[in-house]
Amino acid sequence: MRIDIITVLPKLIESPFEASILKRAQQKGKAEVVLHDLRQFGFGKHSQVDDYQFGGGAGMVLMIEPILKCIESLQKEREYDEIIFMTPDGKTFDQGDANHLSLKKNLILLCGHYKGIDQRLRDHIITREISIGDYVLSGGELAAAVLVDSIGRLIPGVLNNEISALEDSFQDDLIAPPIYTRPADFRGWKVPDVLLSGHEANIEAWRHENAMLRTAEKRPDLWKKYKKD
Ligand code: 6GU
Repeated sequence: MRIDIITVLPKLIESPFEASILKRAQQKGKAEVVLHDLRQFGFGKHSQVDDYQFGGGAGMVLMIEPILKCIESLQKEREYDEIIFMTPDGKTFDQGDANHLSLKKNLILLCGHYKGIDQRLRDHIITREISIGDYVLSGGELAAAVLVDSIGRLIPGVLNNEISALEDSFQDDLIAPPIYTRPADFRGWKVPDVLLSGHEANIEAWRHENAMLRTAEKRPDLWKKYKKD
């Protein structure tokens, strides 16, 4: 999978892709993340990429042309499955979206900044608009890093233990059950006996039961969905 990220602040998201899962994905040749500085496509000696809003109002708007020039230069090289705009008024990203996008080959992520981008790009070029939650960040970059991390770890062969991505919280609309490691007894705080029993069926039943209990307690919204399905 290849992900191209268009941003006015490439520095802000260089480091996440040089560490952890995303570095591993790239080293294994499973994913390639390429940052593009929008300013390289800007106008004039100041590489202008934004301008005042028609109709007045505070805040600058990213112009069509620099963004389109950047996108079209990429489209000359390969076909893209999606051109995604990162914006707080987009659809709230969830595990289902991550699963879906992890199967794609080439993605462009456009990071919003300032007031946002010219609406005509959203009308004619953007194929999907994504938010990572109901709060406002100063730009789409950190949200893009979140998206790429969640997608990257789902690409087959990226995680060492393939099964573990499937057992994550949310994969089946249940929160993962409690987990423990040694020592089995720490100052009297004991690990549940069943986990030490070696009885696989009982352990599986315990985990499922506790995943349900946890979900009902911590995330009543997910629990309602789980029961309905
Ligand atoms: Cl994708 N962008 C910005 N600027 N703020 C956000 C967001 C995105 N998702 C949540 N808040």
